[in-house]
Amino acid sequence: MSTRLFSFVGGAAGAWRVLSTTAVKGEPLPAVSRLSVVADTPPAAGSGWVLRGVTSNERYVTRAEHDQLSAVSPPLGRPDAACAALIPIRKSAAWWLLSQDERREILADRSQHISVGQKYLPAIARRLHHCRDLDVASPFDFLTWFEFAPEHRQLFDDLAGALRATAEWNFVEREVDIRLQRE
Ligand code: HEM
Repeated sequence: MSTRLFSFVGGAAGAWRVLSTTAVKGEPLPAVSRLSVVADTPPAAGSGWVLRGVTSNERYVTRAEHDQLSAVSPPLGRPDAACAALIPIRKSAAWWLLSQDERREILADRSQHISVGQKYLPAIARRLHHCRDLDVASPFDFLTWFEFAPEHRQLFDDLAGALRATAEWNFVEREVDIRLQRE
């Protein structure tokens, strides 16, 4: 059975070198030099930090959106995708008090998260991890992970900028943007 649990371990070791760590909103994370992404059993935290999340069922996409995204979504681990971004995000209590249809209206209709995001496929591969589904409290609600080729760095910046300007991001109260290079 494939695992749903992933640990992002920031410290002095790991396949990914940290290029930058930016606190976009709220409290920063301690700077580390390397990151490893570990499936299943989380390793003990060394000198840095460990963030954990699980992949889960989709909450917002319609069948048509799901099929459109699936048709153009690349896998993680492409040899030429030597760049990555780990963006942990926490949304506000106000977001979580909304009902499912209200959240979908903000995310998809008002903010166009899904249709805007789709324009950046297949250049960017992604995996969304949920933290609220864990049995322990987490400082973030989501760990978002993206992989892309070096020539698509600017493209990814454009996408992140576009999403941060939307109504959905009014509900983001903590966001850290960690850029990485595999080496
Ligand atoms: C690469 C293009 C992207 C596409 C195609 C995309 C697509 C999606 C989709 C379809 C969902 C909803 C999944 C569901 O139905 O539950 C989602 C959720 C999410 N995405 Fe993106 N996204 C992209 C980029 C980004 C970026 C760059 C960020 C962060 C800066 C981001 C942050 C999130 C977060 C935090 C959620 C969870 C929202 C929630 O459940 O409240 N996405 N994305």
